[in-house]
Amino acid sequence: MTDRYAVVGNPIAHSKSPRIHALFAAASGQDMRYEALLAPLDGFAATVRGFIADGGRGMNVTVPFKEEAFRLADTLTPRARAAGAVNTLAFEQGRILGDNTDGAGLVADITGNLDRALAERRVLLLGAGGAARGCILPLLGERPARLLIANRTAEKARGLAREFSANGANVDGCGFDELSGQSFDVVINATSAGLADTGLPLPPGLFAPGALAYDMVYGKATPFLTLAATAGARCADGLGMLVEQAAEAFLLWRGLRPATAPVLAALRKNE
Ligand code: ATR
Repeated sequence: MTDRYAVVGNPIAHSKSPRIHALFAAASGQDMRYEALLAPLDGFAATVRGFIADGGRGMNVTVPFKEEAFRLADTLTPRARAAGAVNTLAFEQGRILGDNTDGAGLVADITGNLDRALAERRVLLLGAGGAARGCILPLLGERPARLLIANRTAEKARGLAREFSANGANVDGCGFDELSGQSFDVVINATSAGLADTGLPLPPGLFAPGALAYDMVYGKATPFLTLAATAGARCADGLGMLVEQAAEAFLLWRGLRPATAPVLAALRKNE
């Protein structure tokens, strides 16, 4: 029987996930169907339960329901617990498992597709909202020389750093004005500023020679990436992260990790 999966969000029509998972399923010979489900803003849990009742096996969760999915899950993976948000649900024996594959997707894109090691590197994470929080544990898992979280509201960055440094990790938090005189090998923009075409007040010299600048936003040249390109950094958008987080979800559901390079190439063709 064909297994059913879906991505749920509001809005959802723009989602690339159905296409990504259809390509994964075709390439790996999996008998599955993956659809896009629009949930009313006050009807997330009912939409999930309805999908389970219809025989659904798993779901991806996107804006604005990731925190609600976290609360709905019966069991959480450690990375979902650390993220405080869930982007992947798996339904097994009447229980809802909540996972978060966003951070693993980011790390897989940087270390795999972009071929940049994070181990022993100086990494700067811009932002301290949900997107930033979701990738801290997977980034620390790569054992960077240091992870600095910088945010417009400095206290939020410091709070996040305190939370994650509890087990001895080298992670600090600061405001943008404290970045002067420091440089990094990898700079990741996890703020939502680029969505509004807003630049960030970043000092000169932030990008070490040969640095990678990564914006989680995809499909547009954000002011952050434009600044990074001018400073000589190698630039990457978040499309690879999107494909890799999907591959991690596929692995959870189907027990195999699909090849991502052909899917990423197919999506790039349509940009
Ligand atoms: P998301 O789920 O996308 O992370 P969020 O939790 O609302 O969304 O967090 C948005 C992040 O982008 C925050 O770090 C926010 O900074 P503040 O904590 O100071 O609000 C950051 N952000 C949004 N707009 C910004 C801007 N114009 N300049 C700098 N940072 C911005």
